[in-house]
Amino acid sequence: MFLFFLASFLDLHPLTMKLKLLNQTCLKVAVCFRKITLFASNYELIFPFSFFLSLFVAANCGLKNAGSLGMVVGGTATAPHEFPWAVGLLYDGRLICGGTLLSARTILSAAHCVSSGGVGRPADRYTVLVGAHNRTSSGRRLPVQQIIWHSRYSELSLQNDIALLILAEPIDLEVMAEVARPICLPNRTDDSTGSSSSLTGRMATVVGWGATAEGGSRLPELLQQVALPVISNWRCMLAYLPLPNFPIRSGQICAGYDDGGKDSCQGDSGSSLAIPLLFKPEREGGQGAEGEQRWTQIGVVSWGMGCARARKPGVYTRVTSHLDWIQANAK
Ligand code: ARG
Repeated sequence: MFLFFLASFLDLHPLTMKLKLLNQTCLKVAVCFRKITLFASNYELIFPFSFFLSLFVAANCGLKNAGSLGMVVGGTATAPHEFPWAVGLLYDGRLICGGTLLSARTILSAAHCVSSGGVGRPADRYTVLVGAHNRTSSGRRLPVQQIIWHSRYSELSLQNDIALLILAEPIDLEVMAEVARPICLPNRTDDSTGSSSSLTGRMATVVGWGATAEGGSRLPELLQQVALPVISNWRCMLAYLPLPNFPIRSGQICAGYDDGGKDSCQGDSGSSLAIPLLFKPEREGGQGAEGEQRWTQIGVVSWGMGCARARKPGVYTRVTSHLDWIQANAK
């Protein structure tokens, strides 16, 4: 009862179904190949052919479409397909969370979007809304083959709130090029964890179809965005001292204004907190223009106390802390 109360207090989705834990090993050559290329996209692969392999996944990652200035509480609607990596997670056809495209088959999201009480919901009740702007009238709904959530995800403390969904069929990224594109993953060197993060103070953008006000029951039709300052883990820890069961650790990153007003909210979980980074030829497979901005995901929407409250920042799973896990499990 207490947990249920806490869960609703923190805007979590109560999930109850069992997860079929599917084989996550690298069985097929094609799957291995993709895993290797994800490694390559993050400098991890030192083999001589890494340059060639790195063209596979990340060559066109992080390229936004033109948009306005700019889920989200206190945000604005995005331009159509402005953030082409943004996807919705539908459970029994209803939008419950967001996610991002990492490759033609892999969606990054939050563990609390796919599991509850240590068990998960079955993959066949999920569909992923890809290439959408108006969530009810655009985009394609694609079936999910496999759900992988972090084995050390804690529902009690919300540590390691991260999951991958593998689509049954890869998206044709060439056919859908205008509306569906992967986001870039950061390098370890783009961040240092803990209170001295080099991301602290940067403006980051959250994109999602989540509620536009705390307690808001009707989700917006159009994809929303809001820009928020990243704050230090130290300040975030202080903000959440009154909730000792939810310690802020190095695997998390927080963003928000002291005065509140702008935040992610219920329904945005699993969506991205992202920053534009200058193009790095070594990372993006050498393809790209000088001075080009590549959008790079630094956080996954996880939780917050209410939405957009003063001194209650949004808490995100820190992507740089989970690169090995993502690379080991992405397809
Ligand atoms: N847990 C919420 C969800 O399932 C996301 C809450 C984010 N809250 C916040 N205040 N930033 O959609």
